[in-house]
Amino acid sequence: MANAQPPFNIGIIGCGAIARQHLIAIQAIDGLKPYAYCDVHPDRAESFLSEYGGGYATAAPNRLLDDPAINAVYICTHHDTHTPLAVAACQAGKNVMMEKPLALTVEECAEIGQAAEQSGVIFMTGFKLRYNPVVLKSREFLPNPTFVMAQIMDTRWPDDFWAQDPVKGGGNVLSQGCHAMDLACHLSGSDPAEIFAECGTRSHTGTEVIDSLVATIRFANGGFASVAIGDSGTVPHLSKFAFQAVGAGRSVLLHDRLQRGEYFDGESSESLVQPCELGMELENREFLSAIAEGRRPATGWRDGLRATAMIRAAFRAAETRAAQSLHLPPNP
Ligand SMILES: NC(=O)c1ccc[n+]([C@@H]2O[C@H](COP(=O)([O-])OP(=O)(O)OC[C@H]3O[C@@H](n4cnc5c(N)ncnc54)[C@H](O)[C@@H]3O)[C@@H](O)[C@H]2O)c1
Repeated sequence: MANAQPPFNIGIIGCGAIARQHLIAIQAIDGLKPYAYCDVHPDRAESFLSEYGGGYATAAPNRLLDDPAINAVYICTHHDTHTPLAVAACQAGKNVMMEKPLALTVEECAEIGQAAEQSGVIFMTGFKLRYNPVVLKSREFLPNPTFVMAQIMDTRWPDDFWAQDPVKGGGNVLSQGCHAMDLACHLSGSDPAEIFAECGTRSHTGTEVIDSLVATIRFANGGFASVAIGDSGTVPHLSKFAFQAVGAGRSVLLHDRLQRGEYFDGESSESLVQPCELGMELENREFLSAIAEGRRPATGWRDGLRATAMIRAAFRAAETRAAQSLHLPPNP
């Protein structure tokens, strides 16, 4: 990893909803320049080109990967394409912003990690929740909580939503649960050691995807977490994303889509309120700094692997009725 000078030309692969959020965030950041767009539906790539500017639109990812003018690619496609695209991008020497989940299986995540390590590119997993100021403050206020409660409960996803497809998406828990698992670890300040869970298909009966999960996690540092994930309905006052951490006489509540944090030191409480979700912009600023400084970003491939490994271990725990130990690769 070498230092490099911004601005960096970026290529977008997958011109859908999350790519648009990245592009909106990037507009506020000097140093990342949208340059090329790729989508299997060429009209989507063309329309991004006319909206956000740049050099060209294409249906062929290799055009971006072979283009020496492109420094980094954003992989914003459906989950079944993450592994081949991420591996190819690393092998082409492109820095990668990889949308979550890194991949749907631990084996694929490891394959991506190996490609990233061998190529030496800057590889970031897009866990945008981590970059919200309310989360950063929680880490400072309560770095080693006794336990964490993590909830990502969505309104019911449409049955024909691509992420509900077992191959393209894997369902709600594999799609969104990685955010909950990642933040449970991050707020706890530790890797997980063991997990037990109950899960099933409760919201989309008749389909084969797991859409509801509750898990109990024991961390390597002795902390615990209770995690709930699903799309059976949300509580408006807490919102889809709600997290609590308690310990050492202190407590933290993160809610309102992580736009509000409440921090109680045992005597008095203070609030941190964000005018909007800032995770996407701050995640992109972190990616820019990591490329410019030639260092690993705060969320790398191992974090993506860890989150998928936790979901998969939770599924196994529910199936076998036995807690599962987690064996993760060392920090690179
Ligand atoms: N970080 C977050 O909070 C967050 C939120 C939503 C979605 N996501 C993730 O972003 C990714 C994309 O989700 P989305 O909601 O933007 O989906 P989307 O359907 O809106 O967009 C995906 C686009 O990728 C294109 N595509 C599919 N395969 C391709 C390929 N092989 N090459 C080029 N283009 C291809 C599709 O045609 C589509 O236009 C997923 O990994 C999803 O989980 C992350």
